[in-house]
Amino acid sequence: MDRRPLVVGNWKMHGSIASARALARAVASRGAAYPNIDIAICPPFLHLGVVAHELRSSRVELGAQTLSEFEHGAYTGEIAAAMLSDIGCHWVIVGHSERRALFGDSIFAVAAKSEAAVAAGLTPIICVGETLVERKNGTTNELLLEQLRPFTENGCVRLHKAVIAYEPVWAIGTGETASPNEAQEVHEFIRATIAKHNAPLADSIRLLYGGSVKPDNAAELFAMSDVDGGLIGGASLKAEDFMQICGAAS
Ligand code: PGA
Repeated sequence: MDRRPLVVGNWKMHGSIASARALARAVASRGAAYPNIDIAICPPFLHLGVVAHELRSSRVELGAQTLSEFEHGAYTGEIAAAMLSDIGCHWVIVGHSERRALFGDSIFAVAAKSEAAVAAGLTPIICVGETLVERKNGTTNELLLEQLRPFTENGCVRLHKAVIAYEPVWAIGTGETASPNEAQEVHEFIRATIAKHNAPLADSIRLLYGGSVKPDNAAELFAMSDVDGGLIGGASLKAEDFMQICGAAS
């Protein structure tokens, strides 16, 4: 099946209102050059408004980096899915390894957040991936199965409107990237795991690779048959690099 490539920028906790506006403006105007792919950028919560404004007449879509699993109520400091949708988000990253490791997002919280996102009309980008220790111990697949388990229940209902990003933790922000073959091997495993529960969905779901994707390695990663695009951290903070990566996907 032909899956439409998707490139997502995860700006993490960087920038100011002014820099977010400038970066969004650059991506918005240059995104028009790649009509055959989907492009999204995920700024920090506080910059969603200005970025939404810059993207208003562009084909680049808006996303957030996390959300609350709760619908609304007394949850000090949290942001609900409906609020993200209200400000113009189409996408939201859930279960990023930094959230799992530093902010205690459990496997169950990730599933609940993903469900909250879908209920509000957002598409969750569900991140999975192993640490260096897990890779060295040969337990990568085991870990992936555990992270995917809440999503494969009931014929993968929770994945019907979702994207999965494979992000090996050892490759995030380290400059070290999985080789195209290493990425393909894991993507193939994820697709095969989904296929056991829902074959048509396994065929259509987009699987992104993330972890030190740069302009000079993007094309070979995206050339792999089960890699449908990328989740880009550091390189999404420079318009030139991000657009070159979009070019590699297109
Ligand atoms: P990186 O981050 O591209 O800076 O490695 C990727 C991510 O964490 O999504």
